[in-house]
Amino acid sequence: MKYELEEDLLDVLVSEEEIKKCTKELGAQLTEDYKGKNPLIVGILKGACPFLCDLIQEMPIAMTLDFMSVSSYGSNSSSTGEVRILKDLDIPVEGRDLIIVEDIIDSGNTLFYLKKVLLNRGAKSVELVTLLDKPDRRVKDIKVKYIGKSIPDYFAVGYGLDFNEKYRNLPYVAILKPEVYS
Ligand code: IMP
Ligand code: MG
Repeated sequence: MKYELEEDLLDVLVSEEEIKKCTKELGAQLTEDYKGKNPLIVGILKGACPFLCDLIQEMPIAMTLDFMSVSSYGSNSSSTGEVRILKDLDIPVEGRDLIIVEDIIDSGNTLFYLKKVLLNRGAKSVELVTLLDKPDRRVKDIKVKYIGKSIPDYFAVGYGLDFNEKYRNLPYVAILKPEVYS
């Protein structure tokens, strides 16, 4: 069956095949870097969920899984850069090697702030993995060690990414028609 909201989409940005390839490559790299370290995987709700589910299945190593939910202060995502924690981790991070899993990095504000908070709590290391990166929009200078794919500055939806909480269940990443969000 055709996606119910397909008429809102302009074009496919990252296909299911390409997502699979990125996920396999990142999983293999993380497996190599983290075997024997029992990393704590920190998924950022809700957008990172589809990617995280596929990624951890490519990582046959000991790991712990936890989630955080955060939101930017202000009405839009590029506000002050301050981030509010809506749901915190259940598992203590002290002495642990953390891998934060995100769907997309835009300004970099969210991950810049989260990395600082988690290091302050005593995490041994904090690395970032994201399926998508929009480097043109970066405001904060953050090092993202694991990137699936860099994309131009489009508003993307699908595979976890939403607009107004819609489109997260699309199995690929698409460009949203500008008239839908403007
Ligand atoms: P940052 O703090 O500006 O890097 O924002 C990252 C967050 O903004 C992501 O976790 C997404 O929730 C959201 N975001 C940024 N770009 C897009 C997009 O193109 N589509 C959907 N959400 C986006
Ligand atoms: Mg998000």
